[in-house]
Amino acid sequence: MSNRGKIHKAVIPVAGLGTRFLPATKATPKEMLPVVDKPAIQYVVEEAVAAGINDVLFVTGRNKESLENHFDRSPSLEQTLAERGASDMQAKISGLANLAAMHYVRQGVPMGLGHAVSMAKAHVGNQAFAVLLGDDLVDVKTPILPEMFAAQAKLGGSILALMEVPDDQIHLYGCAAVEPTDNPDIVRVTELVEKPAAGTAPSNLAVIGRYVIDPAVFELLENLAPGRGGEIQLTDALASLINLPAESGGGVHAVIFRGKRYDTGDKLSYLKSVVSIALDREDLGPDLRAWLTSYLAGQI
Ligand code: G1P
Repeated sequence: MSNRGKIHKAVIPVAGLGTRFLPATKATPKEMLPVVDKPAIQYVVEEAVAAGINDVLFVTGRNKESLENHFDRSPSLEQTLAERGASDMQAKISGLANLAAMHYVRQGVPMGLGHAVSMAKAHVGNQAFAVLLGDDLVDVKTPILPEMFAAQAKLGGSILALMEVPDDQIHLYGCAAVEPTDNPDIVRVTELVEKPAAGTAPSNLAVIGRYVIDPAVFELLENLAPGRGGEIQLTDALASLINLPAESGGGVHAVIFRGKRYDTGDKLSYLKSVVSIALDREDLGPDLRAWLTSYLAGQI
């Protein structure tokens, strides 16, 4: 229970090859695919920063230089914008480098999400830390990290975010069995299974890509055998944390997420994310809605 308090480091795994988006991702990281006018990863970093994160470690791999460039200063571009009088855009562009202290570690061999998180051990140290997965975008109007951080400060241990999904989709996620607590939004996690086979899921509560994790996870990850898909699964290490005593960093609770989440992980859900986020924007929403309505009515 010693590991409570302010969470200020986030780990963001970005080493995936993005094969589901080939050929778009042959030379461009999937995290850099635009969602309207920002790369997907920028939404994730901004969400972390809005929740108080000031230190981001990307677990990266080959061909991710453009992601590093995105969060770095770009003197010639900034100068050109200044010369053109585009000071708003210049501020936005230079501000990307100052969102947080950005760090990078290479994963080397892609051996799964648990392996990616294990690469953060030296950087994270002894404090609880956040993990954000780049495929999940959480709507800025319904943030979940603040509630997770508050739960960790109160309960210690690790905190997951769970979302109810239809029964026929639970096999795509980590799945949790839970017990209620006196807070209707917070549950105690009693079992975790990574991508349960059809008909075997203990619930329809899916783990979404936001975690607050006790550093006790690192030792568990080091000793973990490959799980589903032959990969080192973060879910399996979190499952071991459930039964670890609180004084050793154990205990897993979850916040039930009832907000809006976009999935940029496959083509159809990526398209839905782009359309929903654009529809919510003041500058694009009204015109896009009008066009979509006519388009779907076959008038265009
Ligand atoms: C990962 C995790 C899974 C979680 C999901 C959330 O799976 O392994 O437990 O439910 O993210 O997006 P992936 O989608 O990377 O296969």
